[in-house]
Amino acid sequence: TEHLKLFGPEGPLVAVAGEDLVLPCFIRPNTSAVDMTVEWFKLYVDDSLVHLYKDHEDRNEKQAQSYRGRTSLFKEELQKGNASLKLSAVRVSDEGEYKCLVDDKSWSNDITIHVTVEVLGSHPVIMMESYDNSGGINLVCESRGWNPEPEVLWLDREGATLPAEDTQTHRDTEGFSVKR
Ligand SMILES: *[C@@H]1O[C@H](CO)[C@@H](O)[C@H](O)[C@H]1NC(C)=O
Ligand SMILES: *[C@@H]1O[C@H](CO)[C@@H](O)[C@H](O)[C@H]1NC(C)=O
Repeated sequence: TEHLKLFGPEGPLVAVAGEDLVLPCFIRPNTSAVDMTVEWFKLYVDDSLVHLYKDHEDRNEKQAQSYRGRTSLFKEELQKGNASLKLSAVRVSDEGEYKCLVDDKSWSNDITIHVTVEVLGSHPVIMMESYDNSGGINLVCESRGWNPEPEVLWLDREGATLPAEDTQTHRDTEGFSVKR
């Protein structure tokens, strides 16, 4: 088994929030992984177990809460050495580094995959904030739930950018909220 090696995607994966994502991980030359242990972890988090397959079964008692019911392996693909993970209904909080570790007692190998999650935020809402001393008005534009961080621009009717104060940005599990 020492010539076996795990492979993953060529580069980072970009997922769209709400959609399903396959994280590729496979053994080459292709060899059955049915009798092996397949572990998927998320790196740099406390609750790191994403999926565990061991002794021919999924063993997800210690799986992180946020992944409950959202992960699966492709059982018929395991015999071709394909240990790819399906993650359903991707969330912004799924963003990060994942490790696929395949272990066969005499052999073990792992790969790391970087996942980013894109989400379109809410429609911008424009509000009048105040009058200013020169008789004009101050407007503020707000939008929530973006990832990655969006840019906020004020444009005039010709499409030229208008001077504005700095954007206030806030980040939570739903993504970036912005106000300018
Ligand atoms: C290896 O992959 C090839 C191409 O997908 C397939 O034809 C072959 O049956 C596979 N071998 C094993 C042992 O699964
Ligand atoms: C592994 O299985 C998934 C799901 O069927 C498939 O999309 C993917 O192409 C497979 N990867 C390889 C290397 O066979």
